[in-house]
Amino acid sequence: MTQRYKTIYAESQSDPIGYWQRQAQRVAWSKPHYQVLDDSNPPFYRWYPGAELNTCYNALDRHIEAGHGSRAALIYDSPVTNTIKSYSYSELREQVAKLAGAIRALGVKQGDRVIIYMAMTPEAVIAMLACARIGAVHSVVFGGFAPRELATRIDDAKPVLMIASSCGLEPGRVVEYKPLLDQAIEIATHKPQACLIFQRPMCQAAMIAGRDHDYAASLAAAAPVDCVPVAATDPLYVLYTSGTTGIPKGVVRSNGGHAVALHWSMEHIYGVKPGEVFWAASDVGWVVGHSYIVYAPLIFGATSLLYEGKPVGTPDAGAYWRVIQQHKVVALFTAPTAFRAIKKEDPRGELVKKYDLSNFRALFLAGERADPDTVHWAEDILKKPVIDHWWQTETGWPVSANFMGLELLPVKHGSATCAVPGYDVQVLDDDGRQVPEAGTIGNIAIKLPLPPGCLPTLWNNDEGFKKSYLARFPGYYNTGDAGFIDEDGYIYIMSRTDDIINVAGHRLSTGGMEEVLSAHPDVAECAVVGVADQLKGQVPLGFVVLKSGTAKADDQIVRELVGLVREKIGPVAAFKQAVVVKRLPKTRSGKILRGTMQKLADAQEFRMPATIDDPVILTEIEQALQPIGYAKKG
Ligand code: COA
Ligand code: AMP
Repeated sequence: MTQRYKTIYAESQSDPIGYWQRQAQRVAWSKPHYQVLDDSNPPFYRWYPGAELNTCYNALDRHIEAGHGSRAALIYDSPVTNTIKSYSYSELREQVAKLAGAIRALGVKQGDRVIIYMAMTPEAVIAMLACARIGAVHSVVFGGFAPRELATRIDDAKPVLMIASSCGLEPGRVVEYKPLLDQAIEIATHKPQACLIFQRPMCQAAMIAGRDHDYAASLAAAAPVDCVPVAATDPLYVLYTSGTTGIPKGVVRSNGGHAVALHWSMEHIYGVKPGEVFWAASDVGWVVGHSYIVYAPLIFGATSLLYEGKPVGTPDAGAYWRVIQQHKVVALFTAPTAFRAIKKEDPRGELVKKYDLSNFRALFLAGERADPDTVHWAEDILKKPVIDHWWQTETGWPVSANFMGLELLPVKHGSATCAVPGYDVQVLDDDGRQVPEAGTIGNIAIKLPLPPGCLPTLWNNDEGFKKSYLARFPGYYNTGDAGFIDEDGYIYIMSRTDDIINVAGHRLSTGGMEEVLSAHPDVAECAVVGVADQLKGQVPLGFVVLKSGTAKADDQIVRELVGLVREKIGPVAAFKQAVVVKRLPKTRSGKILRGTMQKLADAQEFRMPATIDDPVILTEIEQALQPIGYAKKG
């Protein structure tokens, strides 16, 4: 039954060099590789050293040269602006080549960094590909992050150029990005030499003379440029993601392994054929957007759908079905939270019946745990395979999945299916030993080397890479996820082992939020935990102990804290609730019992920690939580 998968998986494990040598043939190299894997400097591994290619060439020019220039590369569907626009491969290349010329004219050279802070419009995709074309390293920052977060990334990446939209559109409001960009540059120590601003008709940004340049005018004046060959091991992009502190980690993606891995995934996991329409309903600011809105569909020669809208409210809970019908989408990738939002508004799936989904073959879910209820509901209304697959910003492509293009393995609800060929996924106990029996919960780790496409290191931070991912279990990459593998090899991802929470599929650090809360002058001590939320999966909840003699009322302080997190981290943190408590529960050695507080808030059973300093505190916390709707049974 599972023979094809098993054979290919076994091949990838027994002869990884031969396996990845063969997969590399699907990518166009300007200089073919002489070594598949450089493993001479563990724990650092490099795929395809010596080889050269250009990712933009693979994504655009290659298909045009093969005679597919008139095929649709990108369809922009924006219910928030009432726009639908399609770009053929030739049209997209024309724009990309000209923008590459424009950014080069602004001083960007190969290896320089460019930060992109843009809304979900084609110009964001064009900006990413233009950087790739000239070998510049892009770093896209999600629009829902506040200036301080953008400034942290500016100081780490030290970009020569910023490319930004004048605004983003959220239901019911225009979010002006330009003032946020200006503030971020003011806060940052590093000052980019230029900014390229894409003016949207809904909001004209004020420009700073000498620094800011108009996107449209620069494009019109630019001469197109060709692709520059880069080393397979050169970085294509840096994408910052939440770590275990408020300081984000710059995940590096190198050109060669990335192109090979993404090409493989489009065919085998997503089961898409060149020329078909693939839709990842995410944002270019997240890894899903990088891999499956921009690079994978284009490298594979498919058509990518770029959607500027929400699953509900733009205009209704039938939006996804309308898009699937109208553009003949064959596969959709989104976060379970989007389906929870649709289910809440249209629980019986009445709207789906109005649309023709005959071209649609499968739904892929990732970004957070896919709760079996949501998966069942999606299966019932779509009557198509619903595939839960698991991966991270760091890996850049799925670690475990089902395989539409290889073999559809039997579905087990609650499991993100089986390890993708190339990944040796294991469950380790806290001492780093493999758990003795299938089904035992532990730390999920991947045996080194990671396959092509995964991060080789963190930006300018080899030590941080080792410390964050490799030090705990020597010889393994520690995913930070906990779970188990059953007797059939199915992987179950249950929770994180660190302070990361997933809010509506967005990865956030509660440590980062605690840093913001502790900076409030009236806060003596605090903790933030992720509590269950019916729509978003998890939302942050703050617990604060106030300094004695604080004059303000508790609810006033809570309002200030909510405002502070929005201002410092951004609306994406969805930090809306905090509770003032007298004390925080701690172990005798002073460690805050965050896990216990989360269980208490979610009214889950928990065992009283043996090391708790004073159990009475838990009763106090329970009493404080009940008035705001937490810690109640039923
Ligand atoms: N720029 C500025 N602000 C943004 C933003 C952006 N690009 N994206 C989100 N925000 C804001 C939202 O407006 C919201 O602000 P609010 O507190 O004033 O309402 C806040 O950030 C939180 O946004 P979000 O988490 O998206 O919540 P939501 O309530 O607006 O929508 C869903 C909830 C479920 C509809 C939405 O998260 C969704 O469509 N998710 C599924 C797809 C997805 O994004 N997946 C990501 C990983 S695959
Ligand atoms: P991100 O880096 O933003 O993609 O977030 C990665 C994290 O999201 C993972 O480490 C998991 O904790 C969680 N995650 C992603 N996909 C899944 C899934 N299918 N099931 C459970 N958790 C998931």
